[in-house]
Amino acid sequence: MRRYSVALIKGDGIGPEIIDEAVKVLDAVSVKENFEITYKEALLGGAAIDMTGDPIPEETIEIAKSCDAVLFGAIGGPKWDDLPRSKRPETGLLKLRKALGVFANLRPTIVYDELINASPLKPEVIQGTDLMVVRELIGGIYFGEPRGYEGDRAYNTMVYTRAEVERIARVGFDIAMKRNKRVTSVDKANVLEVSQLWRDVVSEVAKEYPEVSLDHMYVDNAAMQLIRDPKQFDVILTGNIFGDILSDEASMLSGSIGLLPSASLGEKHGLYEPIHGSAPDIAGQGIANPIAAISSAAMMLRFQFGQERAAWRIEEAIRRVLREGYRTRDIASFDAKEVVTTSEMGSLIAQYAAQL
Ligand code: IPM
Ligand code: MG
Repeated sequence: MRRYSVALIKGDGIGPEIIDEAVKVLDAVSVKENFEITYKEALLGGAAIDMTGDPIPEETIEIAKSCDAVLFGAIGGPKWDDLPRSKRPETGLLKLRKALGVFANLRPTIVYDELINASPLKPEVIQGTDLMVVRELIGGIYFGEPRGYEGDRAYNTMVYTRAEVERIARVGFDIAMKRNKRVTSVDKANVLEVSQLWRDVVSEVAKEYPEVSLDHMYVDNAAMQLIRDPKQFDVILTGNIFGDILSDEASMLSGSIGLLPSASLGEKHGLYEPIHGSAPDIAGQGIANPIAAISSAAMMLRFQFGQERAAWRIEEAIRRVLREGYRTRDIASFDAKEVVTTSEMGSLIAQYAAQL
């Protein structure tokens, strides 16, 4: 029997609730597909600050590196907002991504037909949307030096090197080859030198993929086009901060940010997390949507472990639950049959995934 180890980082806010549901579903499908997952819990973010004073204790990095994959919930909350930057929960997450070298963040936008009415956009605009944001995750303005806050002056630096752009571009094109063979590279090359380099390098890498069509789009235009006609996109390839913003925007095409998963991949490691945050305002009430976390677990099974059938079970189960009208509060519109709690949603998905 195949055995996998997963570092479980539940984090803050709704993190623990949704990760518990993801584990429930993983346990259900692993029995069916005859593999076993062992979990090692590790602290990150506010939970780590409260226990150790550090948003990312050394032990967390060790556990994350020693396991076959990392499944992560969410971090942050008002309780830790006033701490100095080096002690903030977000700093812990950024350090974890960097330590694992997970430079490629894949954020699919899935529009479930069953939820077509949950999006604020018109059904005819969003129906059939199927896009993937490929976001560079450990470079750009998030990590560039120099940075500082000195008296009345503060600054950050957006830096990319040729090598950094090349490797993320290859991921973007490789993924496009398995999808609809279109890449839209998003930058701000009309203003920023760093974007000009981005554009030059992406165009060069494109020559290795003659079957993939490439176009370039300025980020402001891309933000508008995502709402005007999201179906025009297949793979959106972009840098760290633009990808952060556009992936939140793209999530609303699906109706709720509580639905969408992500995978962050590097040479060796993989980190899987919902794209939403810790939602402290609804934490502990049993109303958070666990689908993003469960769907992230499915991505982990597929990308990290090659357990395609198990991933498929989960994704099919999610569709079935939605088709049957079960909704958490964030996606409950007039066509909801029954509004369920976080844990009920997890149990239904686990049950259906095991039945397939
Ligand atoms: C995300 C989040 C993070 C980011 C924060 C929490 C540091 O917004 O994963 O999109 O900006 O990358
Ligand atoms: Mg974000």
